[in-house]
Amino acid sequence: MVARGPKQPLTEEEITVDPPKEGEVRVKVIANALCHTDIYTLDGLDPEGLFPCILGHEAGCIVESVGPGVTSVVPGDHVIPCYTPQCSQTSCIFCMSPKTNLCPEIRSTQGQGVMPDGTKRFHDKDGKDIYHFMGCSTMSEYTVLAEISCAKVSKEMPLEKACLFGCGVSTGMGAVWNTCKVEPFSSVAVFGLGAVGLAVIQGAKMAGASKIIAVDINEDKFEMAKKLGATDCVNSSPDKIDKPIQKVIAGDMTPWGVDYSFDCTGNVNVMRAALECSHRGWGESCVIGVAASGHEISTRPFQLVTGRVWKGTAFGGFKSRRDVPLLVERHLNGELPIDHFITHTFEGVEKTGDAIDALHSGGCLRAVVKY
Ligand SMILES: NC(=O)c1ccc[n+]([C@@H]2O[C@H](COP(=O)([O-])OP(=O)(O)OC[C@H]3O[C@@H](n4cnc5c(N)ncnc54)[C@H](O)[C@@H]3O)[C@@H](O)[C@H]2O)c1
Ligand SMILES: [Zn+2]
Ligand SMILES: [Zn+2]
Repeated sequence: MVARGPKQPLTEEEITVDPPKEGEVRVKVIANALCHTDIYTLDGLDPEGLFPCILGHEAGCIVESVGPGVTSVVPGDHVIPCYTPQCSQTSCIFCMSPKTNLCPEIRSTQGQGVMPDGTKRFHDKDGKDIYHFMGCSTMSEYTVLAEISCAKVSKEMPLEKACLFGCGVSTGMGAVWNTCKVEPFSSVAVFGLGAVGLAVIQGAKMAGASKIIAVDINEDKFEMAKKLGATDCVNSSPDKIDKPIQKVIAGDMTPWGVDYSFDCTGNVNVMRAALECSHRGWGESCVIGVAASGHEISTRPFQLVTGRVWKGTAFGGFKSRRDVPLLVERHLNGELPIDHFITHTFEGVEKTGDAIDALHSGGCLRAVVKY
């Protein structure tokens, strides 16, 4: 499915997907889940969005062929494409640091919509090139990935579920476990109860948080939030509360605020509220949501002087090739249920447009398209 331009419906096209070059892997995509970052680009909100392109970055795939020099996967392996790669080279100070997962090895070409050698593997029927997206481009029956973007996972894991670990669900859980390292008996506030926010709640419950405040402007989200471990739910719409939400949380619901808060909306005003409802002296607030271009965050510096910490996360801090297979193992062991995130399923890559419509409807967490 090709995105020909911003705000245009995807077009179903027959394209050529070149064989993998050195250090690359061609995969057959078995299932793809929609994420808001795809829609954000399709809606033209990303000023760096390149068209025509093939979107998609939450997928479960089978390796079809490998290029020269590829040693870590072979045809038939099951992989999850990871937009945050992990090169694991000893010369990569990011991969060698336990503090981050942000391997920059292919960052610049990935951002330019091309493979690491600067060329593209997708061509339309007229022979014209099509851009890659986030190093994944999984809204296609076949795609080409850098080897360092492939997380090899157990073949026991159904790929139509495995795709969820490619972005939102891992991000929410990792924000709790890796970025903030939430301790038992902590208090937590989660703003925005989409798949990412619900994954934060699930992760916080697993980490032993004793108070989990779930905040959204859509009350339909509260039932699932409670099921996953939220202890309190608040509708933060201005007509439902008589003061800013940060004062409801830090003041009414807790004396000094929560130990940890998470923005899962991408709204910069919510990010501010999340910081300001965190605990005087030690509260940490984590930005997960991706804000629209040009938007900036602000708060009074006094909020930081009095001990609050503002941080953010990409892919939940997980080192992708090392950690995604472990998340899959934890799911297979029964420790990490994820089925509840799949609210819609479709058959056939051509149904991707219907999945996008479903995602736009408020009730959708993840829409999975099986190819
Ligand atoms: N940092 C990362 O690595 C990463 C990875 C994946 C997704 N994201 C971002 O995380 C965010 C959440 O993703 P999602 O898939 O869960 O999105 P979603 O749209 O399904 O969920 C967002 C939720 O926020 C709620 N909301 C909107 N405005 C609000 C407000 N003012 N106050 C309270 N709640 C509000 C909505 O009702 C909705 O329930 C997006 O911005 C996405 O781009 C970031
Ligand atoms: Zn690296
Ligand atoms: Zn995503």
